[in-house]
Amino acid sequence: MLKRFWLWLGRLLGKLLLTLIVLGLIGWGIGEGYYAWKFSGPVSTQEEIAADEAALTRLIIEDAVRIVEQHRDNTRVLRDAHAKAHGCVRAEVQVLDDLDESLRQGVFAEPGHTWQAWMRLSNGNAYPQFDRARDARGMAIKLLDVPGEKLMKNPLHAGDQDFVMFNNTAFFVRDVAEYRSNFAAQADGKKVLAFFPSWDPRTWEIRHLFIALKTLAPAPETPVATTYNSIAPFKLGSLNIKYRVVPAPQNCPPYELPEQNTDLPNFLRNALYQQLSLDRAPACFELQVQKQNAQYYMPIEDTSVEWSEKISPFESVARITVPAKDFDSREQNLFCDNLSFNPWHALAEHRPIGGINRLRKSVYEAVSAYRHQRNAHVVAPAPAGVGLGPVTSNRTAELSD
Ligand code: HEM
Repeated sequence: MLKRFWLWLGRLLGKLLLTLIVLGLIGWGIGEGYYAWKFSGPVSTQEEIAADEAALTRLIIEDAVRIVEQHRDNTRVLRDAHAKAHGCVRAEVQVLDDLDESLRQGVFAEPGHTWQAWMRLSNGNAYPQFDRARDARGMAIKLLDVPGEKLMKNPLHAGDQDFVMFNNTAFFVRDVAEYRSNFAAQADGKKVLAFFPSWDPRTWEIRHLFIALKTLAPAPETPVATTYNSIAPFKLGSLNIKYRVVPAPQNCPPYELPEQNTDLPNFLRNALYQQLSLDRAPACFELQVQKQNAQYYMPIEDTSVEWSEKISPFESVARITVPAKDFDSREQNLFCDNLSFNPWHALAEHRPIGGINRLRKSVYEAVSAYRHQRNAHVVAPAPAGVGLGPVTSNRTAELSD
């Protein structure tokens, strides 16, 4: 009797599992078919600005400043995003000698030229947490002493050309309107419901929920072993491009990082320290760009869509070297905290494009200004003989290797 019951239960569970698998496959097939149809080109090469974008941007800034204040620790106001740094390190960015003519634009105009830069490596979360927590990892690069007029007229950033990235390939919202509704819901603690704004299934953003879940990934073994993407598009002269930074250990002397204790809260900083400061081994990357091919679905106004590498592969434009150094001093960490990166610290040849980038312009500026003001950051002269661009509130701390 009992045996027959177990057999019956087993058959029932088996059928249930089979039904679920078949339904899953059908759903997946429908999804693939739908997106293949929806995400087919051609697309516009121009920006398209929604009428309500400016008003939504103002509301987002108010929310962002509120969040910064919520996450304020006892002593300092941190960034609204990417609050925890693994370190700020000096880097050299050298334009490739044989760079293709079409890519010789802006800071890449002169093959072989080497730019001095700061690189800040971070976790994406709004407040510092253990590195083993699932999260995005950020890389921000600031080329220094770049001549030419910048898109933002702030004299403190007159010499800056910034590249701001994190290590997923797509953003979890498409545009400013979706960012506003998602951000507002998340601020109310609705992490998953943020992707289901109403009962109407047409408003559900299941694909974006999956992107958000994928963005919150386990940590790499070191911050120098993951690829960082611009995700949003930019100009490169007359081209529309996305850019990324990929690890290029082949450009550096061979080095193997000893296994790190990933239970330690700051093991990503430890890994960086082990390589650059203890083992005195440099880290190498390449900066690459991907051109928009508007015949295919490579939109400007939707950051949730990755541009296909099969259609338009990334091409290297510069080598990045992070020399061996001591970087983990109190002064340099404070300096790092006081840096401000903004994709709009840029030459016109590198102008950020698309709604999410337009939004970032004022949000980064507002949050940076707010935290500097709240931290009563004093503008002091840079140490004598530093020679790394204009004396700014950003460059008051230790700047040596
Ligand atoms: C393409 C998508 C995005 C990428 C790749 C990105 C990446 C980053 C990175 C790496 C940082 C840290 C910079 C540093 O080290 O100082 C950062 C900071 C920040 N991000 Fe984003 N982000 C994106 C979109 C956004 C959006 C849509 C918003 C809000 C509208 C936003 C708001 C901020 C803010 C407020 C900061 C801190 C700015 C400061 O206080 O200096 N980000 N972002």
